[in-house]
Amino acid sequence: MDVTVRSFSLSAIALLLFVSFAQGQNPRCETPDQGSNLQVFHVYSPCSPFRPSKPLSWEESVLQMLAKDQARIQYLSSLVARKSVVPIASGRQITQSPTYIVRAKFGTPAQTLLLAMDTSNDAAWVPCTGCVGCSSTVLFSADKSTSFKTLGCQEPRCKQVPNPSCSGPVCGFNITYGSSTVAANLGVDNITLATDSVSGYTFGCIQKATGSSVPPQGLLGLGRGPLSLLSQTQNLYQSTFSYCLPSFKTLNFSGSLRLGPVGQPTRIKYTPLLKNPRRSSLYYVNLVAIRVGRKIVDIPPAALAFNPTTGAGTVIDSGTVFTRLVAPAYIAVRDEFRRRVRNAAVTSLGGFDTCYSVPIVAPTITFMFTGMNVTLPPDNLLIHSTSGSTTCLAMAAAPDNVNSVLNVIANMQQQNHRVLFDVPNSRLGVARELCT
Ligand SMILES: *[C@@H]1O[C@H](CO)[C@@H](O)[C@H](O)[C@H]1NC(C)=O
Ligand SMILES: *[C@@H]1O[C@H](CO)[C@@H](O)[C@H](O)[C@H]1NC(C)=O
Ligand SMILES: *[C@@H]1O[C@H](CO)[C@@H](O)[C@H](O)[C@H]1NC(C)=O
Ligand SMILES: *[C@@H]1O[C@H](CO)[C@@H](O)[C@H](O)[C@H]1NC(C)=O
Repeated sequence: MDVTVRSFSLSAIALLLFVSFAQGQNPRCETPDQGSNLQVFHVYSPCSPFRPSKPLSWEESVLQMLAKDQARIQYLSSLVARKSVVPIASGRQITQSPTYIVRAKFGTPAQTLLLAMDTSNDAAWVPCTGCVGCSSTVLFSADKSTSFKTLGCQEPRCKQVPNPSCSGPVCGFNITYGSSTVAANLGVDNITLATDSVSGYTFGCIQKATGSSVPPQGLLGLGRGPLSLLSQTQNLYQSTFSYCLPSFKTLNFSGSLRLGPVGQPTRIKYTPLLKNPRRSSLYYVNLVAIRVGRKIVDIPPAALAFNPTTGAGTVIDSGTVFTRLVAPAYIAVRDEFRRRVRNAAVTSLGGFDTCYSVPIVAPTITFMFTGMNVTLPPDNLLIHSTSGSTTCLAMAAAPDNVNSVLNVIANMQQQNHRVLFDVPNSRLGVARELCT
């Protein structure tokens, strides 16, 4: 008996040692978030439980990210058009998992969940115990939280959710997210972000999910609409936040999500944020031109113009990986890029149509916004295969099957930049920063 117990505890110790050794190589995973700063992990980071179980090849991961983007763009286009599109991805093995995740604690006592950051969404939701169809093994147990309450149908906040359904006493809502549908009940609880406590935070407790787009543990909507984190924490964060997204080339690095006006950069360039009343959650900016090298390329003005009625224009999004431009804009940029990369044959890879199998010297690309030029270095423009044999321009035309009018400045093009969302002053700031 003694022997069994002893050997059991020895192997438990061995296991513990192994676990702490494995994590010790990457101590950042364990570092608690401080102040109003949350560490941001790439979903493929060693700190992320959602990384692929076996390493993907470069081609596989690029093609997977592109496929997810396709679903994402379709989703954003449907938001803009204010109608739901039949998801092309449904029935196929395309998932729209999050790219960047942060930690948050829900309830009393606190339960830690990982949430996908989504600047184009207002809602926050987590899968709750009893959820039918949620893929997550980590669920929020509302019944174990002494501070959790469900919201009734008479509550004004029930009017702010999309498609409220009040068949019972509890405020429920159904939403389409990517290729998924989610049915949730509106609940209220305290949450803790880094060391900030927020009381009475309203979020969706997912009861049922179909499809494969639902982020594994939850979603943190950083959009500008009525139920978003920003709207609910006016006093604390004053609708101001910034992030620095780490590159997926340096997965051991974590970036940061800094909430509130304190500690935001002062040396930063700004462009005005535009508001689309029909799509209040999206962060529109005015992209006026694009420069490739020193040449401003010829883009029909309608391809870039902001139009609140049609939803056309340019948004900054944290959830799309590769920038998508509407076809006439993309073609102009791509053609000039190809002209600059002389003497190399153009190949393609999945949705990328400007790839090279020899080393190239690439021009910079500058997004020219009202009042702000952002010149992207090669790291934000090119993806290279691990073997070094393939290089692609990491942008694409918006998919033509969704009749898209939206340009999306995606997260690869934002990596290693501080992007500041200053809603009270209606401006977006961008500055180079190495996210470590
Ligand atoms: C990243 O961290 C892992 C362990 O978590 C380690 O094995 C690997 O060498 C690190 N990579 C780099 C580039 O530092
Ligand atoms: C929402 O979804 C649930 C579960 O799928 C369904 O029972 C309910 O009728 C839906 N409500 C609305 C308003 O669509
Ligand atoms: C959390 O919830 C409890 C119970 O509702 C409440 O008394 C407390 O003030 C809340 N807020 C914080 C920040 O803990
Ligand atoms: C952006 O670059 C163009 C030249 O390509 C220049 O004319 C313009 O003044 C710059 N804008 C800002 C805000 O620096």
